[in-house]
Amino acid sequence: METARQGAQADRVLVIDDEPVVIDVLRGLLGKQGLDVEFASDAAGGRSVLESADWDAVLLDVMLPDANGLEVLRWIRERYPDLAVVMITAHGTVESAVEAMKAGAFHYLTKPFKNDEVRHLVARATQSTHLRRENEDLRRALEERSRFERIVGKSRPMQEVYRFIDQVAPSRSTVLIHGESGTGKELVAQAIHRRSTRTAEPYLIVNSASIPTELLEDNLFGHLKGAFTGATTDRIGLLEAADGGTILFDEISTVAPQVQAKLLRVIQEKEFLPLGSVEPRTVDVRILAATNEDLKALVEAGRFREDLYYRLNVISLALPPLRERTEDLPLLAAHFLERFNAENGKSVASFSTAALEHMLAYSWPGNVRELENAVERGVVLARGPEIGLDSLPRELRDTPQLPEPAVLPEGVGFYEAVSRFERQLIEAALRSSGGVQKHAAATLGLKPTTLNEKIKRLRIPN
Ligand SMILES: Nc1ncnc2c1ncn2[C@@H]1O[C@H](COP(=O)(O)OP(=O)(O)OP(=O)(O)O)[C@@H](O)[C@H]1O
Ligand SMILES: [Mg+2]
Repeated sequence: METARQGAQADRVLVIDDEPVVIDVLRGLLGKQGLDVEFASDAAGGRSVLESADWDAVLLDVMLPDANGLEVLRWIRERYPDLAVVMITAHGTVESAVEAMKAGAFHYLTKPFKNDEVRHLVARATQSTHLRRENEDLRRALEERSRFERIVGKSRPMQEVYRFIDQVAPSRSTVLIHGESGTGKELVAQAIHRRSTRTAEPYLIVNSASIPTELLEDNLFGHLKGAFTGATTDRIGLLEAADGGTILFDEISTVAPQVQAKLLRVIQEKEFLPLGSVEPRTVDVRILAATNEDLKALVEAGRFREDLYYRLNVISLALPPLRERTEDLPLLAAHFLERFNAENGKSVASFSTAALEHMLAYSWPGNVRELENAVERGVVLARGPEIGLDSLPRELRDTPQLPEPAVLPEGVGFYEAVSRFERQLIEAALRSSGGVQKHAAATLGLKPTTLNEKIKRLRIPN
């Protein structure tokens, strides 16, 4: 005999049927199965009992004194799409059974009942309800995931970033993270490390932009005593210090060519030479790299080794700029508001509507970092419960507002109107940038390739 899942609450089954014999039989059968069973004898009663609690399955008679069971079925399907409904039909009424299946019943039982069939079907019905609910919960969790590690954002592009991190984190692969300044490259690198099997091992960041090449080499590879003047003892480098863990090469484009070659060896052979040594040392370090430059272009310009580029670029992630995911802006702004309130002992509650409108219209060339700074400034300057327009940085206040959208002129369709507006904006930007597409693209906050496509599509002479 099947019993209710141990430790869990008993499954709840509602029977809507007016026939005393049916009620008796089901009470006995389902009770023994460890289910929590309740009864309603008509459609009206059934609806109100359904609404009063959560149910795991419903057994519903097709012929009720006050309604057709199929109507009740449709009502249930609409309100509780996850709840499995088993229809009870009289022997020989195949049509209503077929209709019930079409209307979304989980299955049907024919009177008189076969005990085994009832037990089996009800068990499957409750399972089906549970599965559908779990699926739904999972889907919702994914959809609404608005934070991932310390990363805030729930737009589609960010959901893709989260999925990507989960996919690449467990492997040992090198990952190249690129994106404009302030898009969160460091946060992503850290999330990859934290979600990897190396999470308990060291995570180090090397920023080659901020140190001279000799010092970078010494820091990375370490040295033997006497390797150079001042090297009075052996010293291990960051590569060895990070053994078993992860190193992020931030601003990888700034690594000097001589170090690029050595880095390639680390990635390919997992080995390197400390300064002054001829014996290679082996390390197990996962390498992540971040850049806001177009590495491919640097390769073409001869400033970055092609072989290293291909090694780094095996798996790459492009982080979306903030202006391409403005739906995340209110979420991020609220997140920073909370943080800077706490840091400054303030309790600014929100942004004024005008402030938020300007924030949404702004192009945020410095991305999330720029937003973070703007909110900090706003919190510090705010005198009331709100951050008003006057507490935002000048660039933001100056964001021109769009003209009031006009009513479509007679005979002009929506898409035609949008195209004309696009054309006007692009022509104005081209004029003000002397026809240089790259500059016009920057003014418009578009990628040069996107602008070029639009220019071709709209056949704008340029
Ligand atoms: N999605 C995000 N959620 C929360 N904070 C973010 C997010 N993205 C960026 N930040 C914050 O913005 C700031 C800049 O992020 P980060 O340093 O990761 O950017 P970056 O891409 O490395 O920029 P750069 O190229 O200028 O070094 C950090 O303070 C970071 O915490
Ligand atoms: Mg950075």
